[in-house]
Amino acid sequence: MKTAVIYHSVTGNTKNMGEIIVQGMNSVQGVEARSFDIEHVDTAFVKEAKCVVFGSPIYAAHITGQMMNYLLAEAGKLELAGKLAGAYATAQYVHGGAELGIREMLDHCMVMGALTYSGGASWGKPVIHLGPVGIDHTLDIDQFAKNFEIYGTRMAQKAMELFA
Ligand SMILES: Cc1cc2nc3c(=O)[nH]c(=O)nc-3n(C[C@H](O)[C@H](O)[C@H](O)COP(=O)(O)O)c2cc1C
Repeated sequence: MKTAVIYHSVTGNTKNMGEIIVQGMNSVQGVEARSFDIEHVDTAFVKEAKCVVFGSPIYAAHITGQMMNYLLAEAGKLELAGKLAGAYATAQYVHGGAELGIREMLDHCMVMGALTYSGGASWGKPVIHLGPVGIDHTLDIDQFAKNFEIYGTRMAQKAMELFA
């Protein structure tokens, strides 16, 4: 089963965390996960995917303009309806708006007819409430990497449970 991560990233944090989500997804037997920058999305692959996760840096407590433009202009081509969808963010501050950005992406997925999911408290600790967040500059972002890997595994496991 194919699963995908689509991200916008300027200085690499969101790209790196997306690649860690992919590692977690690929640890689930039967899953083929790939990540794509918004400018290089393999649309055919994502159309076939049963789970799609979107990631953005946080700018001014929102997702980036580029990510919003991608969602508005291109995400309609991904056939998100009925797929499992999730979102993650990277930011500088714990109070910097990361979960607002995650909500923006999840809301968009819902509008497209996707089934939004994070695992929440159902898997126990770490409880990943809306989606994983990585904080850089004020903290060491690598300390959040394990949450991204676990999140990728949980998303892929749920996709297998629903669609395999
Ligand atoms: C123009 C700009 C605005 C930003 N605004 C915020 C913000 O509102 N809150 C926050 O926590 N971090 C903010 N940041 C920090 C980025 O979200 C953070 O460095 C992020 O990890 C960058 O992701 P990237 O390396 O994938 O580009 C901002 C960065 C830039 C360049």
